[in-house]
Amino acid sequence: MKFFLDTANIDEIREANATGLLDGVTTNPSLIKKAGREFFEVITEIAKEVDGPVSAETVAHDHETMLKEGLKCAKIADNIAVKVPLTIEGLKTCKALRAEGIMVNVTLCFSANQALLAAKAGASFISPFVGRHDDVGFNGMELIEDIRNIYDNYNFDTEILVASVRHPTHILESARIGADVATFPIDVLRKLFNHPLTTNGLAGFDKDWAATGFSIL
Ligand code: E4P
Repeated sequence: MKFFLDTANIDEIREANATGLLDGVTTNPSLIKKAGREFFEVITEIAKEVDGPVSAETVAHDHETMLKEGLKCAKIADNIAVKVPLTIEGLKTCKALRAEGIMVNVTLCFSANQALLAAKAGASFISPFVGRHDDVGFNGMELIEDIRNIYDNYNFDTEILVASVRHPTHILESARIGADVATFPIDVLRKLFNHPLTTNGLAGFDKDWAATGFSIL
């Protein structure tokens, strides 16, 4: 399963990249606002920092303007995935951008039928939002399972990009289901490394090793 970081903060991206485990980045207008930097400047910097896909989200609601925005974003770098919303206009734009060979991430997906539409429109990625789904009393991970089954039934090559991830259990469940990608904030990445038995075990080995007086280097 690929790991994307869900942020427009370059320091967080550098921290994640240094682990050697980062496969891409997703951004959205709220994350751009939070980063407090000009859109093209920050997306250009992220696209240079990361080898994998970097999602840049369009903001227009009509197909014609959204397509213009998408084409402009795609010019930033070869690894840009243009993000469009799961609306009729968004899927028209998805199809047009894919015909140009541009990667497209279809966002704000909350049902398996919507995911089916995105795959039929040729999306490179579909982004179902599991955390926001959980927030309103549904089970976000059941949605991922449904989409996995549907995509496998028809051999769609659209990648399932689990979004709105809030905690490590979302990552574990995504991997169990066979999602292709999960995108998550830096604090979730940090938590994935942690286990109290690892910390305690390391402290015990340190103590015993110090008592031997040996040295490896
Ligand atoms: C993904 O592409 C979305 O931008 C993101 O995961 C949304 O997450 P949120 O529900 O935490 O805002």
